[in-house]
Amino acid sequence: MSVIAIQSNLRDYTVHFHDDASFIEGFTRFPQKLFVIDENVWKLHGTGCLAALADSERVIFPVSEELKNLESVMELYDRLMECSAKKNMTLISIGGGIIQDITGFVASTLYRGLNWVFIPTTLLAQADSCIGSKTSLNYKRFKNLIGTFYPPSEVHIFSKFLQTLEKYDFLSGMGEVAKLHIMGGVDTISSFIVVLPALLRRDDAAILLAIRRSLTVKLSYMEGDEFDTGRRNLLNYGHCFGHALETVSGYAIPHGQAVVVGMLVANRIAVKRGLLSEVAAQRFAEHFLNLLLDFKLELSGYSLAELIAAMRQDKKRVGDGLVMVMVTDTLEMVKADDVKTEEIEMAVKSFP
Ligand SMILES: NC(=O)c1ccc[n+]([C@@H]2O[C@H](COP(=O)([O-])OP(=O)(O)OC[C@H]3O[C@@H](n4cnc5c(N)ncnc54)[C@H](O)[C@@H]3O)[C@@H](O)[C@H]2O)c1
Ligand SMILES: [Zn+2]
Repeated sequence: MSVIAIQSNLRDYTVHFHDDASFIEGFTRFPQKLFVIDENVWKLHGTGCLAALADSERVIFPVSEELKNLESVMELYDRLMECSAKKNMTLISIGGGIIQDITGFVASTLYRGLNWVFIPTTLLAQADSCIGSKTSLNYKRFKNLIGTFYPPSEVHIFSKFLQTLEKYDFLSGMGEVAKLHIMGGVDTISSFIVVLPALLRRDDAAILLAIRRSLTVKLSYMEGDEFDTGRRNLLNYGHCFGHALETVSGYAIPHGQAVVVGMLVANRIAVKRGLLSEVAAQRFAEHFLNLLLDFKLELSGYSLAELIAAMRQDKKRVGDGLVMVMVTDTLEMVKADDVKTEEIEMAVKSFP
């Protein structure tokens, strides 16, 4: 087992990497705890990796973007209030980004903060969302509008969980992994392109390296800006348009897949603004971004007006313009807050 120690203004925490699932049993010995487990994960692993939890008190939670809301949070409040221990209890969440966001919000708000352990089971959660302290809920039609900053006290990564992910959920995680590897610079993205075939056939060693590299890059952008007021904003590459697409598609397009489309759109605008060469944008698209999409990219079916309206809800927007993070030829990240509707229209129309 190896460990990454993360410093946070809220609470320092640790990310543990495990070679086998024996660590799970250790949590059954916690004195006061409640497990909240993604329903699909329990179905797939309840008699395997998670068999040690057979006699533990647990809530099996169905997941979908529609359920990432305050009602689900209240359901869990009720369940936790039934437990005799209050502040001293540990909430142990097992699942992907949705379970993380719901239970993280619960842990951060109930009794002004519960002890919280997170065991991510999707590629997106292991390689990206498990660090960074954010919890987010959807509100009405708007994505991640409500949230808090609250890190788990421990994150435990067991990459073999990823072998049972559906292809599009795996590819969704690969979207975030690709984003972080672009943001890691020339060497990082070059090695990503080399190992891409191994990643796509879910070679465990390749996945583990990609997870570690992704977390290291994410950490480097969070350093000194945990609360996302400056440099950390750059991690929103692909998300400005991606969140809008996710919303307008009624969440039919999973998060990381929408981020891939968001990177393609941002790259088109960067080319038009002279930040990125056409050749580099083509290379990004052909060498990996297009390979990570589980569907034929067609944006013509979506209403441009709705996409722009959703982009206007961006939490980080300050002026009249739309916000977009873009990448340059030298793989520097830049954030523009003056993107015009016409630029989005041009980029969207460049796809079929
Ligand atoms: N808090 C953050 O910092 C942060 C960062 C990025 C994304 N997010 C959020 O994370 C969410 C997306 O998370 P996600 O991509 O992990 O998806 P998810 O949690 O929706 O899980 C995707 C699907 O995979 C299933 N699943 C989970 N683990 C599995 C396993 N091991 N085997 C088989 N199936 C499994 C789930 O049941 C679900 O059907 C979005 O809501 C996004 O906004 C949060
Ligand atoms: Zn994301």
